[in-house]
Parts: sequence; structure tokens; C-alpha cells
Amino acid sequence: VSALAPLGQQMAPYACQRRTPLLHSNQPLTEALETLAEDAGFSGSEGRSLAFTRAASVLKALPGRLSALEELGPLPGIGEHSRRVIQDVLEDGVSVEVERVKLSERYRTMKLFTKIFGVGVRTASRWYQEGLRTLVDLQERNTKLTRQQQAGLRHYEDLNTPVERGEAESIGRMVQEAVQRFLPGASVTLAGGFRRGKPHGHDVDLLLTHPEAGREAGLLSRVVSWLDSQGLILYQHSQENSFALHEGPEPPGGRDVLDRFERCFSIFRLEAQGRLGAARGWKAVRVDLVVAPVGQFPFALLGWTGSRHFERELRRFAGHERKMVLNSHTLYDTRLNLFLPAASEEEIFQHLGLEYVPPTQRNA
Ligand code: CTP
Ligand code: MN
Ligand code: MN
Ligand code: MN
Repeated sequence: VSALAPLGQQMAPYACQRRTPLLHSNQPLTEALETLAEDAGFSGSEGRSLAFTRAASVLKALPGRLSALEELGPLPGIGEHSRRVIQDVLEDGVSVEVERVKLSERYRTMKLFTKIFGVGVRTASRWYQEGLRTLVDLQERNTKLTRQQQAGLRHYEDLNTPVERGEAESIGRMVQEAVQRFLPGASVTLAGGFRRGKPHGHDVDLLLTHPEAGREAGLLSRVVSWLDSQGLILYQHSQENSFALHEGPEPPGGRDVLDRFERCFSIFRLEAQGRLGAARGWKAVRVDLVVAPVGQFPFALLGWTGSRHFERELRRFAGHERKMVLNSHTLYDTRLNLFLPAASEEEIFQHLGLEYVPPTQRNA
């Protein structure tokens, strides 16, 4: 029995009770499990997908490299199927099941299509069923595309080239500059994977707010129009705020509840940063802009920092263990029948009775 065993047994059941760093020692195992999670998602098996995601997430929080299945002990959240996969990778270096998935036409095609901005599992799956297999097929067969998907296809290569931290920071400054023009004192905060310390990401997530509640209204459309007039926006699609407190809290559980902030899903035109490979002089970059009133800002920041699995676990913990409803706007206590305000992420963790987990440890 190795030194890992007692550590494995101390593992808390919810990912939001654990510290999950960006770099960990079990990469080949988590990659295998996440491939199966992705593949299950591609066939609409959300439950199975979640089971593999949970298992991968537990391994990411282990303090060392796993060398034998027995070291895991009776860890929470690792089912029989996941254990088999782990064992195969530990013993043979690969899992035959995972390798088969990666080579399968369905997995490869679904991956290709879902990497188009605006294409989800449902659309990709329909195209696959119709016999489409390549991006050229989409064009040649005159597949009906939304404006968003057309933009996604046009910028496919750029949008599937990782965004570097420096690029994210440049875009943050561009937005900050635009924001200052229209609302001095407003702030722009980099959230998403970059806030968790990732060196690159698939997009840039920016949160806008102003220290005086209400002042942020109308800001986003002005900012986006101005950036557009400067030729910096290749695509954008905005949504108005549809959140109303009097509607009461959203029911806990269910699907990932999207928040209702005013937002803009966009593609920016970023001037090349003097790097190699930017022969064209610019690069298309996906940017999410979200506006939060200051009272909801800590909830928005927590919700938009991720990871997706960390968020899902926070909400599950809140519901199951505390009878509270957490979303990116508020925290509601259903036993006391009141909203619990917070001025920082730390206060939200306190309300939930959770030890604070800093952003860089939320890579669940
Ligand atoms: N999010 C959300 N509502 C959306 C989209 C995203 O609340 N409509 C949240 C997700 O919960 C996620 C965070 O915003 O935690 C960032 O999402 P995303 O950009 O998809 O993922 P990242 O973790 O930033 O990963 P990447 O580096 O690949 O962008
Ligand atoms: Mn199984
Ligand atoms: Mn992101
Ligand atoms: Mn995003």
C-alpha cells in the first residue's frame, strides 16, 4: 500500500470542497476519462458523461501520481467503468476503449463539427446522421447555417487556435479603453480559464461592472457599437438582461442554468502581437462580454470563473447540503426564505459553509 491511500480516503465528495490545481500528476488518466465523458456527451448520455467527468475531477485533486488502482481505496465518485479505464491505462499505458473512441468516425466528426462556434451536440449529431463528415461537406451540400455558425466556419482555424494570455490581456485593455469612454469608473475583469491561471484558452471572458448600481445599464451596447465602428468586431450577438428578482430563485438541480445578464457573444479582430504565424496581421478571437450590477458581481465572478465542473458542484452542494439556490446572480436560502448578499467571493463561500477555494484551485 502506498502513501497515496490515506490521502485518497480524505478526499471530500464535492469538487467545491477540494483544491484542484491546473497542473496535476495524473494527466494520462484524466485525458482518457475526459475523452469518454466527451463521447458520452456526444451521444446525449449526460449521466454517463457526468460520471466520467466526476472521476477525472477526483484524480485531478490527488496529491500525487497514481500507480495502482488499489491506492484509490473507496474514493467517492469513481464508478466501476471509470476504474476499469484507470486500470487499463495504468497497466497498458492506454485504454483500448478510449483508443477505439478516438478513432471512431462518429467521435471525430462530432469533434470537428462541435468546434464550430454556434454548433452544439444536437446540430452536429443531426449533420452526422445526414451523412456529413467534413467542413467541405457543409459547404458543398449547402447546409443551412445560422449567422453565428457562418462566422464560426469562416474563422474556424483562428477560433481553434488557443488564445494566449497576452492576447487575452490585450483584448481586456481594448474593452477597458472603450468602457472608460462611456462610463468612467467602470471596471473590466478577466474571468474564465485565464483567471484560474490557464496559460491559454478557447475564448476571453470579460465581466463589466460599475461601483454604483444601475450605472452599468446601457453600457454594453455603446461599447460594442464603438468597438465595431473601429473595425474591431467580426461578429457579435447581444442579449438583454432578463433577470428579475421578483421572479424568485431558479429551481436547483436540472440542467446548467444559464444566467440572465446582459451579454455579448462576439468575435474580435485582434491585431497580431508580433508573433510568428500571424502572417495575415490579425487573428479572430472569441470574446464573451457580460455586464453585472455591482450587487450581483461576486456571484457573476464566481459563476464565470469556472471550471464548468466546479460550478456544477458548487450548485449541487448548495442545493443538497444547504438547501440554498446558487446561481450567477444570487444565493437564496430556502429554509430562511431570504437572499444572502455578498460583497466578495469569500463571503459566498462563507454563506455556504465552505472553505474558500481561490480561482487557481478551481480547475476541477
Ligand atoms: N458560463 C456561464 N454561462 C455561459 C457560458 C459560460 O455561466 N453561457 C460560465 C461557465 O460556467 C464557465 C465560465 O463561464 O465556468 C467560462 O466558460 P468558458 O469560456 O466556456 O470556459 P473556460 O473555463 O473559460 O475555458 P476556456 O479556457 O476553454 O475558455
Ligand atoms: Mn459502464
Ligand atoms: Mn473561457
Ligand atoms: Mn466563454
